[in-house]
Amino acid sequence: MTLKGKVAIVTGGATGIGRAIAFALARDGADIVVADLNKNMAQETAGELEELGVTANAVICDVTKPWMIEKMGESTLERLGHIDILINNAGVAGAAGWYEHAKSREEDWGAAYDVNVKGIFNCITALTPSMKEQRSGKIINLASIAGREGRPAIPHYSASKAAVINYTQGLATTLAEYNINVNAVCPGLLWTPMWEQVGQRYAAHNRDYAGLEAREVFDRMIADVIPLGREQTPEDIGDAVSFLVSDDAHNITGQALNIDGGAFLR
Ligand SMILES: NC(=O)c1ccc[n+]([C@@H]2O[C@H](COP(=O)([O-])OP(=O)(O)OC[C@H]3O[C@@H](n4cnc5c(N)ncnc54)[C@H](O)[C@@H]3O)[C@@H](O)[C@H]2O)c1
Repeated sequence: MTLKGKVAIVTGGATGIGRAIAFALARDGADIVVADLNKNMAQETAGELEELGVTANAVICDVTKPWMIEKMGESTLERLGHIDILINNAGVAGAAGWYEHAKSREEDWGAAYDVNVKGIFNCITALTPSMKEQRSGKIINLASIAGREGRPAIPHYSASKAAVINYTQGLATTLAEYNINVNAVCPGLLWTPMWEQVGQRYAAHNRDYAGLEAREVFDRMIADVIPLGREQTPEDIGDAVSFLVSDDAHNITGQALNIDGGAFLR
């Protein structure tokens, strides 16, 4: 119970990787705010988290809307008293229907930057003042191995995740004087709805994967690029995040940790 007494906000925490992170933090004793666009799923996740014996609140919040984040921060301080951990997990692979197009559209660049990059800026702006005051905090930003190297299939997404890694370094330096640690994690290949769409785009537009089903593209990539030869899971990411926000990691800041079975060695 290394996080007992801590309060964690997880953006995009209703489903996928964010949900697994919320469960990992709750298992370690943290109270959780599930901040997501999807009200029903956020409430469902919060209900299941409470079965672990922690307090969990579901809040509808769009990270592209500063006023919604401010409201969520205020209600968290009122109900739970403090904010100790911020997980900037909400992310998109592009604008709606992005994977049906051969090339990135202007709206894909807009959505990727608005949610994946500016969404983090919005949360940092609204939610760090109380961390600064209490002179402690832990922040984790969800990047990706796509941010380690440009990929032809999803340039807008790769570029946005490279920006997350860079922004994490800048934030770590700026917030260090307040005893706030800021790190990023770079998940590798996870079979999620997001990756199913990525697989469809690869199959349609990359001749190495032509004619394959999305899952076949995924399996081929694992065989080709992951030395450990296995996919990653949302729970893998949750466990790593739980370590990074614990006291055991108090001297780690400004880092981007690959959780990718060895695909990238930097
Ligand atoms: N799935 C992968 O293989 C993979 C790999 C590397 C990195 N990532 C990153 O991990 C994070 C989570 O990915 P996932 O696969 O769980 O995605 P997902 O699509 O399964 O879940 C994303 C969650 O974020 C929420 N969300 C989307 N836009 C939002 C917004 N504007 N405000 C608040 N909530 C919003 C959604 O409602 C959803 O609950 C993302 O940042 C993603 O880029 C995923």
